[in-house]
Amino acid sequence: MSSLRITEDAAPSQSTLRGWFKRSSNPACGAVLNRAGAVSQSDYVSIHKDYISIRGTSKSFVGRNAVVHALSEVDLDIADGEFVSVIGPSGCGKSTLLMLLAGLEPASSGTMRVGNKNVDGPTPDLGIVFQQDVLLEWRTALQNVLLQAEIRGQDKTAATARAKELLAMVGLQNFLDAYPYELSGGMRQRVSICRALLHAPPLLLMDEPFGALDALTRDQLQIDLLRLWSKQKMTVMFITHSISEAVFLSDRIVVMSSRPGRIEEIIKIDLPRPRRLSMRETPEFLAYMQKVTAVFKTLGVLRDEEGDDE
Ligand SMILES: Nc1ncnc2c1ncn2[C@@H]1O[C@H](COP(=O)(O)OP(=O)(O)OP(=O)(O)O)[C@@H](O)[C@H]1O
Ligand SMILES: [Mg+2]
Repeated sequence: MSSLRITEDAAPSQSTLRGWFKRSSNPACGAVLNRAGAVSQSDYVSIHKDYISIRGTSKSFVGRNAVVHALSEVDLDIADGEFVSVIGPSGCGKSTLLMLLAGLEPASSGTMRVGNKNVDGPTPDLGIVFQQDVLLEWRTALQNVLLQAEIRGQDKTAATARAKELLAMVGLQNFLDAYPYELSGGMRQRVSICRALLHAPPLLLMDEPFGALDALTRDQLQIDLLRLWSKQKMTVMFITHSISEAVFLSDRIVVMSSRPGRIEEIIKIDLPRPRRLSMRETPEFLAYMQKVTAVFKTLGVLRDEEGDDE
């Protein structure tokens, strides 16, 4: 077992630590910091193994006339660099879970940790992509991506180089100066993904990002996303209604029940990477799809025929 020992003189910054956490390939290696308040060995091990830790998290919304129980007692760990999809019926609390993790909504109970920090307010160190691209119509594709750097006060030259690199990675190198109205829906969504990734966040949260796209564009964007993910080495939580999309993209699929949303099952997807579209026709892929479908049938979310209550 390798271990990382840091003396008082050489105590690193939190960002340096995160770099070490991300670079280490040995999940069993440990860290000992002897500075007060620094990371202990047990912290290091848990940070490395479970980049995200959600414990007993529930959320209720108090409305004018009623209380809506959106999420109930969610427990979930996500490893550093993992691609996890969340799938479940409409209204089961998927977006709520994402908003809680981003610190944009407070949980009613339970705890959430991202990296070495408890979530208790908006987390700057992540990227979010929603179903609608929310691009600014008066800015070009490049300027839309650079918005992220402007908000964060980052160096413009470095940010421009990275924005161009990201846009090229998703095939938009010839559309840097195009305005959103000159772009297709898929291109617009690519721009918003690049904007979310400009500051190289360790965590990307995606809420049905391809839900409004046609099937062919959706296929291509899944490939583009996996390419970005493997190059950027980030952790992804991806919300979708598509079983096929979840199987294709994920290391694990979290299947949720109807409201109040609970985790019904977590399915590990042991398909090789890099994933190819042709994999969707393999027996292994279809077996995973059937496995997820079976959970929804058991929950009564999916029925083959009217009156079919198997
Ligand atoms: N800000 C809010 N105030 C009150 N109720 C809310 C709020 N946000 C969500 N809800 C309720 O919480 C429940 C879960 O909503 P949520 O948007 O998380 O579902 P979802 O799983 O993302 O659904 P969909 O698949 O349709 O996007 C719903 O009943 C919704 O009406
Ligand atoms: Mg939603």
